[in-house]
Amino acid sequence: MQSGFTRGFPDKFTVSVSCAAGVESVLKKELFRAFSIEAPAVNGRIEFEGDPLTVARCNINLRTADRVYIKTGCFDARTFDELFDAVKSVRWEDYIPKDGRVYVDGRCVKSALFAVSDCQRIVKKAIADRLCGVYGLNRLPESGSTYKVDFYFYQDKVSFYIDTSGTGLHKRGYRDMVGIAPIKETLAAAMLLMSDFYKTRPFADPFCGSGTFLIEGARIALNIAAGIDRKFAFNEWKNFDKKAYELAFSEAKDKERLGEKPDLRGFDVDKKAVELTLRHAKRAGLEKVIRAEVLPVKKFKPWAEEGTIVSNPPYGERVYGDDDAKKCYRELGEALKGFDGWSAFIITPNKSFEKCFGKKCDRERKLFNAEKECRYYFYYPKKVKQ
Ligand SMILES: C[S@@+](CC[C@H](N)C(=O)[O-])C[C@H]1O[C@@H](n2cnc3c(N)ncnc32)[C@H](O)[C@@H]1O
Repeated sequence: MQSGFTRGFPDKFTVSVSCAAGVESVLKKELFRAFSIEAPAVNGRIEFEGDPLTVARCNINLRTADRVYIKTGCFDARTFDELFDAVKSVRWEDYIPKDGRVYVDGRCVKSALFAVSDCQRIVKKAIADRLCGVYGLNRLPESGSTYKVDFYFYQDKVSFYIDTSGTGLHKRGYRDMVGIAPIKETLAAAMLLMSDFYKTRPFADPFCGSGTFLIEGARIALNIAAGIDRKFAFNEWKNFDKKAYELAFSEAKDKERLGEKPDLRGFDVDKKAVELTLRHAKRAGLEKVIRAEVLPVKKFKPWAEEGTIVSNPPYGERVYGDDDAKKCYRELGEALKGFDGWSAFIITPNKSFEKCFGKKCDRERKLFNAEKECRYYFYYPKKVKQ
């Protein structure tokens, strides 16, 4: 039986949403708040039952997800023959049309089959065999749109996924130029959602770089969906019902709260970084909401009684050396002495941060920025308004 949102897709299937390590609990909350979906997070993924509308909604709305997949199966496989038979038993024809171009990628972890390129070849061959058999072809023409299949081996169990996102979901579309060590949009959103920032609470990033925290913060405040400006792999699929995307898109547009007046300000010592922030804010349609100015952190002052700071200062690698980074942390610590009613949330892998900043954090979490293990330090306000 077909649902109202399928054209060749099964009525229900497993949707699998992936995210960076350390971000699972935030993604879980997002899924629950937005769609009342409750499911456990396992190995950086959350899986639940859904349909094409679920796929469209997750891609458009989730701020912290890396990608949204359709999971097509999970099998035991210790030999290439077992892998071939497992792949061939999957009903790929439910998702991949006659002219679909199949691209296979994958990972092997702690498994007897560990050579990724050999597994890639076997998986591709078995999918082609299955589809040729079903469609009565000698070979796949692969003249249509791309269906990327990912396999993931873990302890001799292999799972198969079709990637519905295409380009990673951190690519929102507003950032077209790169500043110094920009943070991924998905991680920035997760850090904001872990902080106490909300709607109209004054917000500052004293090391704003290309403006990621400011733009993600403004989008959270105005309830602008993360993927509203971009398209996804499934938009190219002729067997994916366009109505599912159109409905998810119009639902997201209806939820925007453009009347809110958030107060987001960015500062950076580098004029080029400030220009970049303003450029990206404009590209995101947020030029009236986000302000940015050139200011060294030692001159950073509060403009409101309370607010939230979320930032990633230099780490002490590449452009800024360790001494420069430590100086930034000291100057940030000194400047924040004047911010009694403000909370601060700072990410860095630099182990000297708390010592240089001059204060132990109230809480910390382990996060990964571009594969680098970092600490996310939480400092709650000294003075809370009664
Ligand atoms: C890691 S980058 C921030 C990246 C930013 N979160 C983004 O997503 O693009 C650190 C920034 O701190 C700025 N910076 C370095 N020293 C500074 C100082 N003393 N005062 C203010 N900004 C400083 C750099 O110019 C750089 O843009």
